[in-house]
Amino acid sequence: MTIDLAALPHDFLWGTATSAYQIEGAVAEDGRSPSIWDTFSHTPGKTAGDDHGDVACDHYHRFREDIALMRHLGTNAYRLSIAWPRVIPGGDGPVNPKGLAFYDRLTDALLEAGITPSVTLYHWDLPQVLQDRGGWPERATAEHFAAYASVVAERLGDRVGHWATLNEPLCSAWIGHLEGTMAPGLTDLTAAVRASYHLLLGHGLAVQAVRAAAPDAQVGIVNNLSTIHPATDSPSDLRAARRMDGHTNRWWLDPVHGRGFPEDMREVYGVELPEEPGDLSVIAAPLDWLGLNYYFPQTVADDPTGPAPHARAVRRAGVPRTGMDWEIDASGIEELLLRLTREYGPRGLYVTENGSAFPDTVRPDGTVDDPERQDYLVRHLAACASAARKGAPLAGYFAWSLLDNFEWAYGYAKRFGLVHVDYRTQARTIKGTGHRYAEIVRGHRERGRRAA
Ligand code: FCB
Repeated sequence: MTIDLAALPHDFLWGTATSAYQIEGAVAEDGRSPSIWDTFSHTPGKTAGDDHGDVACDHYHRFREDIALMRHLGTNAYRLSIAWPRVIPGGDGPVNPKGLAFYDRLTDALLEAGITPSVTLYHWDLPQVLQDRGGWPERATAEHFAAYASVVAERLGDRVGHWATLNEPLCSAWIGHLEGTMAPGLTDLTAAVRASYHLLLGHGLAVQAVRAAAPDAQVGIVNNLSTIHPATDSPSDLRAARRMDGHTNRWWLDPVHGRGFPEDMREVYGVELPEEPGDLSVIAAPLDWLGLNYYFPQTVADDPTGPAPHARAVRRAGVPRTGMDWEIDASGIEELLLRLTREYGPRGLYVTENGSAFPDTVRPDGTVDDPERQDYLVRHLAACASAARKGAPLAGYFAWSLLDNFEWAYGYAKRFGLVHVDYRTQARTIKGTGHRYAEIVRGHRERGRRAA
């Protein structure tokens, strides 16, 4: 399979992605307070093997080594997230200079290595103290988020040009408050809908805060979207697919693009939104880019008695799957990039996450051979390039993930890294897919050089 590298711009960002709680460890160091993920992962039975992020990849102490790995891969960008509980341990109020200083060092080290940082302000690690005061279902959380965003942007905005407000608010709201399998672990539709609203309000307020602190910043939001296809062409499955599309895609995209919250979904949820005058225009603050996290497509059937949106995922027979049991279908990433382009007209698009977990072993010769992950990467990159060829303004791709890491409720058992981590020794080993990615990046760069 060939990747149409000529379809990608010369200044394409070739990156890897991580998030704070999944890699940093050092949870009690330099004044960091617990987040909702510390609480959740330390609650027995919530994560596989009761794993938690106390040490994770020890990136807090090993970030220089990890940046050296990025250099080795030849990537020119890195998507990281900032831990709110390091920067403002009380959730709101005083700033913790030691927490901010870590991200200062990290930013400088990236820039010295010629790697463009892309900073995500919220990748699910809400300070627990704010959860104790009601969390995202409360409006004040959105306001505190904007104040935190402002602190970070003021400190890093002279060096960081690329900002995302939220990572996958769908997971925070729907999985964290409705399905309950992620922090804070609630199963309450009203709380979930209120959380979704305040997450998007927080996003809008944070866009303003970042722009005020760093006027040249390129600001966006990161969503995990899915292609949704009906299991059959029965009218009830077609309607279920429409609802799932509303739940997964439109609820997160429409308000941000000035279209308000989808009416059909407001009816499905039947929960009053905590709307105040002016909110919708805050939520619709113009953006420089949209981030797409894509992993798998969904096929759904009507499920009248199930929870909102009354649609259930159906397993398609004969479709290859990753170690997460997620279907592999690279056409979905192309479909979504083209849909975003057509329906929402973004100025720029990034694939902010894409990747696959498979069980890996380090062979006696010290290498990690992972042909299935390699195949996943190449297929998805080919689909991205094809979308770019057809007009999607794709400006970068961030492989999930640089490192094997704490995969939330799945713990350490699921490995997404381009680099293998031995959690006993913290030894890092670039996997076959990492080497393949490096080759692709090199190929694109050389093509640019020849064209210049
Ligand atoms: C996404 C998350 C990321 C990682 C991948 C596998 O939903 O944003 O942190 O866990 O899935």
